[in-house]
Amino acid sequence: MKTLSAKASAIAPSATLSISAKANEMKKNGLSVISFSVGEPDFKTPVFIINACKEALDKGVTKYTPVGGTAELKRAICDKFRRDNSLEYEPDNIVVSTGAKSSLFHALYAILNPDDEVIIPKPFWITYSEIVGICGARSVFAETREENGYKITAEEFESLITPSTKCIIINSPNNPSGSVYSEAELRKIAEVAVKHDVFVISDEVYERLVFDGTKHVSIASFGEDIKKITIVINAVSKTYAMTGWRIGYLACDKSIAKVITALQSHTTSNATSFAQYGATAAINYGEETVEEMIAVFAHRRQLIIDLLSETEGVRFNVPLGAFYVFVDVSAYYGRKFRGKIIGNSVDFCSALLDFGVAAVPGAPFGNDKCIRLSYATSEENIHAGIARLNNFLKEFE
Ligand SMILES: Cc1ncc(COP(=O)(O)O)c(C=O)c1O
Repeated sequence: MKTLSAKASAIAPSATLSISAKANEMKKNGLSVISFSVGEPDFKTPVFIINACKEALDKGVTKYTPVGGTAELKRAICDKFRRDNSLEYEPDNIVVSTGAKSSLFHALYAILNPDDEVIIPKPFWITYSEIVGICGARSVFAETREENGYKITAEEFESLITPSTKCIIINSPNNPSGSVYSEAELRKIAEVAVKHDVFVISDEVYERLVFDGTKHVSIASFGEDIKKITIVINAVSKTYAMTGWRIGYLACDKSIAKVITALQSHTTSNATSFAQYGATAAINYGEETVEEMIAVFAHRRQLIIDLLSETEGVRFNVPLGAFYVFVDVSAYYGRKFRGKIIGNSVDFCSALLDFGVAAVPGAPFGNDKCIRLSYATSEENIHAGIARLNNFLKEFE
């Protein structure tokens, strides 16, 4: 057999999925595992969305749709951008895809040439750098400071720009840190991007999950100059508990949307026809269910913050968005747990999993001091899981 593609062989499997797989395996074997590793809401997709999809199936909406999405869904997305983000887009600015991940892939592939540099602030969602690698471009990981909520400042961004810089990826609210950029921070980053003509990929999939009066602002909304060079990525996945439906979308300048649509016409083609009907109903009529979901998340968030605040030796920034807490556990590194020295976030999560709690190590996100806890789980699990974490920590020598 000849050698496989060097680019494909270099791709790392998703750390989140491998932890979830091991936790599921343990559960199957009758062991008790409390999982803080999931990256999706644990709610069911609201019934009215399912009904819209069923109706579409009954009507025979089972054929190809336009590559970039149905006219109804594109209209709903344009309305959403106007309503939620003060952004005016027309249907030709929008490309619907099979999930935000797919939108990100097509967006990056559409703008990157080999050896272009992409600035990615740490910590970052693992998929970004893998896609940049697939495109033959280079990730430039930006160090950020814990005291600044792990957010890149405009000055730090500017200092990393070289003639090869093509783009920066901003993810607010952030996975894994839960940080949310303020309007003032984003305005300064936008000024630098415009000054140096650097594209911005703005991943806003967690935009509705913001707490304590925090406001999500889209960087694209600060005027025509920044809007022209920004590709906004979003999806129905997290907002409406529709992760399995695989419907994402992006908005950008029409010239870029045209290239992305052409690219997508040769990869996935259109997103699933009847799933687009469900997504249209979600975006047009989902507000009430979103508010209900946010209220539940707000309770869980407060609970996990309170419990972790009483946990010895761990530190964390209070997350303002998404459904993650990024917890610095490095005070325990170099110490022994059941005879084994715990040296990093992977060792820590592996020992913690054997103790019956699944969490995701920070190393693949670009921060080895931390672990990511997802609170997309019941209050009962949060109580029990953090109690177990405390017992686990007490056993360290
Ligand atoms: C920051 C971020 N962007 C994008 C995605 C992908 O979303 P989708 O399921 O719509 O592909 C995820 C999923 O975990 C995410 O955390």
